[in-house]
Amino acid sequence: MKRGDQLYSGKAKTVFLTDEPNRLILHFRNDTSAFDGEKTAQLDRKGLVNNKFNAFIMSKLEQAGIKTHFDRLKSDTESVVKRLDMVPIECVVRNIAAGSICKRYGVVEGIDLHPPTFEFFLKDDARHDPMVNEYHIRAFGWASEEEVAQMKASTFQVNTVLSELFASGGMLLVDFKLEFGRYGGELLLGDEFTPDGCRIWDAETREKLDKDRFRRDLGGVVEAYEQVAARLGVPLE
Ligand code: TMP
Ligand code: ASP
Repeated sequence: MKRGDQLYSGKAKTVFLTDEPNRLILHFRNDTSAFDGEKTAQLDRKGLVNNKFNAFIMSKLEQAGIKTHFDRLKSDTESVVKRLDMVPIECVVRNIAAGSICKRYGVVEGIDLHPPTFEFFLKDDARHDPMVNEYHIRAFGWASEEEVAQMKASTFQVNTVLSELFASGGMLLVDFKLEFGRYGGELLLGDEFTPDGCRIWDAETREKLDKDRFRRDLGGVVEAYEQVAARLGVPLE
């Protein structure tokens, strides 16, 4: 497969066309950003670690019956994916309070959420990804009622599968964000699942092993991602 023109460059990944109309190449870069692109840095090895981490997680989700855009690894920092028509919505599930939910409602970080809490956000950095509800999504035509239901059900299914996977490595899946897109008549999980888009804590010490290390200047960002990968058995080399 040949890499074609650049289609889009985001904060951490660049998307390329290929010689197959239904396939794209995702290039995971070392660029790291937080706070809607306000804070940025280059972190050595992050592109490689996230590419392989994402491939591992997407394959686990496929094995559990969740349909994703992932096709195959292409190189250390590139993957081949199906070309989706993306829904501009971010789906977040939270098992433990952290991040924006604490600020928004004045709750303490670390409390268990029963039931796990679901939120939709509009993917729009310029507006700081405002929270939206399913009426906004349908009324503005971002997705249909059926797609909203599918995104929600699929995100909870991912939570069940991955909470168990992280628990097997002695970790807590605190929260995560997913994005979906259309492919033919289907809605598939798109984008990525890496420690850039979720919160993962050590189950005993509650040490942060995700992008909060970068947001909060805790250091050892990629080292933490590699530790998570090692605990899950993600092959990095
Ligand atoms: P939040 O606490 O900032 O709302 O984020 C919840 C989870 O979703 C956290 O794991 C980070 C992830 N997330 C992203 O990766 N990108 C985003 O744009 C947003 C809003 C959340
Ligand atoms: N991924 C988003 C950004 O880079 C949100 C965040 O991680 O803080 O701005």
